[in-house]
Amino acid sequence: MLRRRQFLAASAAGIAAAPAFVRGQNLNSRVQIAGIGCDGKGWSDIKEMDSHAATQMVAYCDVDLSRTEKVKDLTPGAPVYQDFREMLARHGDSIDAVTVSTPDHMHAFIGLDAMRQGKHVYCQKPLTHNVWEARQMALQAKQSGVITRLGNQIHSHTFYRTAVAAIQSGVIGKVKEVHSWCAATGHGKSFHISRPKTLEDVPKTLAWNQWLGVAPERPYGGWKIYHPWGWRDWQDFGNGALGDFGCHILDPVFTALKINAAPIELTADHTGLNDEVWPAQTTVKYVFPGTDWTARPALPITWYDGGRLPTLRGTDFPSNQALPKSGSLFVGEQASLVLPHVGAPFVSSGALLDEVEGLNHYHGWVDGIISGQQPSDGFDYGGPLTEAVLLGNVAVRYRGETLKWNGKAMQFTNDDSANAWLRRDYRDGWDIAAV
Ligand SMILES: NC(=O)c1ccc[n+]([C@@H]2O[C@H](COP(=O)([O-])OP(=O)(O)OC[C@H]3O[C@@H](n4cnc5c(N)ncnc54)[C@H](O)[C@@H]3O)[C@@H](O)[C@H]2O)c1
Repeated sequence: MLRRRQFLAASAAGIAAAPAFVRGQNLNSRVQIAGIGCDGKGWSDIKEMDSHAATQMVAYCDVDLSRTEKVKDLTPGAPVYQDFREMLARHGDSIDAVTVSTPDHMHAFIGLDAMRQGKHVYCQKPLTHNVWEARQMALQAKQSGVITRLGNQIHSHTFYRTAVAAIQSGVIGKVKEVHSWCAATGHGKSFHISRPKTLEDVPKTLAWNQWLGVAPERPYGGWKIYHPWGWRDWQDFGNGALGDFGCHILDPVFTALKINAAPIELTADHTGLNDEVWPAQTTVKYVFPGTDWTARPALPITWYDGGRLPTLRGTDFPSNQALPKSGSLFVGEQASLVLPHVGAPFVSSGALLDEVEGLNHYHGWVDGIISGQQPSDGFDYGGPLTEAVLLGNVAVRYRGETLKWNGKAMQFTNDDSANAWLRRDYRDGWDIAAV
């Protein structure tokens, strides 16, 4: 990590290469960041960015002013907005970068707008709410030349880095198949499976229309039904357990096996779907093209949520081996490896793994802005990872049917009706333009 003095020296020597950072008066000063979404995960994103020696938090946005007390204490005097567009219009000249920590349905609307204005973006996982948006985010990041990072901070954790290094060292041999699972269910955060009949008044502090943003109009409901937290369950706003944990738990799978292509096909099963919330339990069987790290030309990866665990049959672990509540099982040609989410990886052969030091994921983004070097999981990586995760929720709508996917063309090739689920219609005034 560059400390402030080194950074100033680097800037003075003209090393600060990222285009937006060279943009204006911020050269030779700290990276000036605005936080969008100030409580929940946003608060930890903001605190972490603020703790970097070469940053300054300069503005904030949250649609609910009752959730801005912490940031007001952190940065007294910094302007606080309810609409990020107004914040960028008024303070754009002094904002180099933004964190986007809103519910998923608004990531693309906000992230694309910020990148189009030359801002570096740290965006929470999943990168977007649907597959088409994830593709647009990756394209826009490239076009704008900004430094981006997906907010899957465990990517930088010692446990995940240790597992990636172990697999790439060949300790289990080439990988035949992967199973990834998570304890969370697809609904159960909002305690509803259909829209509430009794509606509470919108709190005075909350700009409900801004919260809805791109999503179809609906009444506020009540505390935690949608806002805050409960939105995850609802198809209009979140992506259930797969959307919530897929980018975390599949991240070391993608990184270790260097998966850089889209799945070829996928098949989902689940416990039942209505028009509103995601299923309580989902299983998605993906097939990816093989890589240098896989045993065969095709790699099966199976996702389970809602508490279902993979069977250990066909692995090198004894059948009574305890598995963590969430994690991944890599079945290799020579041994198998379990990586708990979040815990120390272990191998069926009992081999001891060399521990790889963890890094500060948040600071890695700031350092990238300063150096002009894209961190390991920018939107060029987070986009395809998110696409794969969210394709799983398209497959959920076609229970039991194997959907064939052409990633380059961004199209299902054997059932055209599924293509309609790759994107959504936006609410009037909230359109998202293609890149
Ligand atoms: N990386 C992780 O470990 C992790 C953990 C939790 C959540 N997340 C992600 O962080 C994001 C937020 O999740 P959360 O649990 O904090 O949700 P939340 O609903 O608890 O908090 C979201 C915050 O954003 C604000 N907000 C909502 N819409 C906004 C808008 N349009 N503009 C500005 N502010 C807005 C809300 O008022 C609230 O303060 C999601 O994408 C989620 O997937 C990541």
